[in-house]
Amino acid sequence: MLEKDRFFEKVIDRIDHLDRNGLKNLIENLQQKQRVLQLVFEALDEGIIITAEDRVVTMNNVARIILGYKSRQYGNFQEMDKYIANWGLWNILKFLHGEEDIRKEFTIHQQQEPKYYLVEKRTIEDNLVLYKLVDQTEKKKLQFQLKNIESVAALNTLASGIAHEIKNPLTAIDLHTQLIQRAVQKNLVCLDESILQYIKTISHETKRLNQILNDFLLAARPRQLKLSFEDINSFVQELLLLVKPELEEKNIALREEYQNIPKNFIDKDYLKQAILNLIKNAMDAMEKSSLKILTVRTWYDNGRDSTAIEIADTGCGISPDQIQKIFEPYYTTKEYGTGLGLTITYKIIKEHQGEIQIQSKPGEGTSFTVYIPIHKGHKLLDRPL
Ligand SMILES: Nc1ncnc2c1ncn2[C@@H]1O[C@H](COP(=O)(O)OP(=O)(O)OP(=O)(O)O)[C@@H](O)[C@H]1O
Ligand SMILES: [Mg+2]
Repeated sequence: MLEKDRFFEKVIDRIDHLDRNGLKNLIENLQQKQRVLQLVFEALDEGIIITAEDRVVTMNNVARIILGYKSRQYGNFQEMDKYIANWGLWNILKFLHGEEDIRKEFTIHQQQEPKYYLVEKRTIEDNLVLYKLVDQTEKKKLQFQLKNIESVAALNTLASGIAHEIKNPLTAIDLHTQLIQRAVQKNLVCLDESILQYIKTISHETKRLNQILNDFLLAARPRQLKLSFEDINSFVQELLLLVKPELEEKNIALREEYQNIPKNFIDKDYLKQAILNLIKNAMDAMEKSSLKILTVRTWYDNGRDSTAIEIADTGCGISPDQIQKIFEPYYTTKEYGTGLGLTITYKIIKEHQGEIQIQSKPGEGTSFTVYIPIHKGHKLLDRPL
């Protein structure tokens, strides 16, 4: 500020002595300075509006975007009314104009979603006022989300405790139902057919409840990985043995493609659960398809330095808006699904420091690829086993 003042003082002192060239230089110099200032003004992240009396002198691009101002002409507040889209905020600025300097957050309820703005009014000189506008909507949304995640985590801890408590009586019910069934088989007790049916239903539903609780506990609890150095191809072949009978029963053809890949550190039982969930989903997706092929491939991904396992189906596929939701806990499109399958899979892959990729075409099929990094496997071993 001081420097600028001295510059102008000098110019004013010498203005009578300046010839045509001197004046030209002076104007060029001022023009360049103005261009630089304009660039800085436009590059600011905040919206800036400068007013003199009740006229807007200038505003930068961010301010024009925030206000939805569709003109390059400025005038007094009333004259500019018709070019403004963000009425809520504009009215606040108009109201603040006659007030003291202020820095305050305002919430504006326009259409469906609320918008959050930080507005600062600062008097720079007698009549010259600067307004600073910051759109904080995205930041606020993130804060809400984080709060949400924290409360979900707290709820999960609480629910895990309850789930664990429920498991004990459930195991007892299961055990006693089995004892009754055994006693009936051995003719120790004679029961009417309808009562036997009730007992079967109790047994079936108890097993289902148990499975739901196990899934929930798996999804909610952190787990210390039990790593071992495994041949990934043998690992995949072993787990496929478990599903082959069901594939045959459902008339699903199995294609297997194995490349030579390095061994990797994995938690075998845990990763098995993740891959089985993907295979189970693939089988479900092909229930109504005329073409039923399950493809399982393995390879080494150079770029990621990871072993890759792909599970691809020729099922119903997933629409783009559905894909956003499939990893969410309890999201399911199935009548008897819990919607925890992919949540668990995702958690297991993440705990292996890996990633999961999806490609899907509605009506054609879906492919899930699981990447487990090799170098990080060694690092994971540093943790106590
Ligand atoms: N291979 C796939 N093809 C088509 N849709 C899929 C596939 N895998 C998952 N989905 C969709 O994602 C949803 C969520 O899957 P997820 O495994 O989490 O739960 P679920 O299979 O419905 O129930 P659960 O696995 O708990 O029995 C499914 O309901 C289905 O709509
Ligand atoms: Mg599933």
